[in-house]
Amino acid sequence: MSEPIRFAHLSDWHATTLVGGGRGLLRPKRLSGWASWALRRRHHHDPAVLRAAFRDLRARGVRRVLVTGDLTHVSLPQEFRAARGHLAELGEPEAVFLVPGNHDCYVPVPAAESWDEWAAYLRGQSRDTLAPALAACVVDPPARDRAPRHADYPTLRVEGRLAVVGLCSAVPTPIFRAGGRLGSAQLERLERLLVELGRIGLCRVVLVHHPVIEAMEPPRRRLEDGAALRSVLERAGASLVLHGHKHRRRVGFLAGPDGPIPVIGVPSSSEVGSRPEKRARYHVYTVEERKGDDAGSPSGRFRIAAEVRGYDAASGEFVAVDEPLVMHPAP
Ligand SMILES: [Fe+2]
Repeated sequence: MSEPIRFAHLSDWHATTLVGGGRGLLRPKRLSGWASWALRRRHHHDPAVLRAAFRDLRARGVRRVLVTGDLTHVSLPQEFRAARGHLAELGEPEAVFLVPGNHDCYVPVPAAESWDEWAAYLRGQSRDTLAPALAACVVDPPARDRAPRHADYPTLRVEGRLAVVGLCSAVPTPIFRAGGRLGSAQLERLERLLVELGRIGLCRVVLVHHPVIEAMEPPRRRLEDGAALRSVLERAGASLVLHGHKHRRRVGFLAGPDGPIPVIGVPSSSEVGSRPEKRARYHVYTVEERKGDDAGSPSGRFRIAAEVRGYDAASGEFVAVDEPLVMHPAP
């Protein structure tokens, strides 16, 4: 029996400050983001809460962490540097895999002052480390110390029986909009990659910042090609899809070829609790491979269990919370 696979999902840290942003804030979209930060978000997101999450992960021995973006507010260079510090506190790039969110692409910013700061965390495996059939489904980022750009996605990391596929839905959007887009080239590579990973028999976890199931999602915050992404997932299959963006838990299911695909959104990992449903949380997943007759289970080859850890203001620590995360649809 192979060892269970264990990993955590964190998202939407927004644990940076705009103080000292100076002239960089003098762009209309950034000014609107500054107003949102000054009036609301700076009171809601606390780096101390994020550090409590990191402490809890260490105490529980959870090494692998998947992060679905929005580490910044308005994509200032100082925010990327600060968030790089948060990533370094969390863990080594080999254990922490990140995809960007819309706030990390708030306005067009030179890569050297933005995503390249996070290059080691954003990068997937280079093609020369992958089996040829997988290498044919991904592209290499430009150079070793540079981050993948939108056109370089999906990214892929394989460790044992776990394959994590990173998608990039982060594109600059007009003022008062927070949507995302994958594009046809990324979707086409994703489908081939998922099919190949499924053929090899790996546990396929897909990361994307924006919600995949659109229920109650206003158009201005929606993934433009969400319908196309859902179609790819339903045709090619996946074990689990993880997203952020909503600062709330979202649980839904897509009809994959091997059974239902859980699609789980996690709340922010730093939010002090403007509303009860938005209090800081992170999720821990444990994956076990089904064996023998059980491997033909209608809910897929892998059995996935989830655990919710939540911030407790009284102790200043994360604790187990009684919020069962059901990984299969109601019959
Ligand atoms: Fe977002």
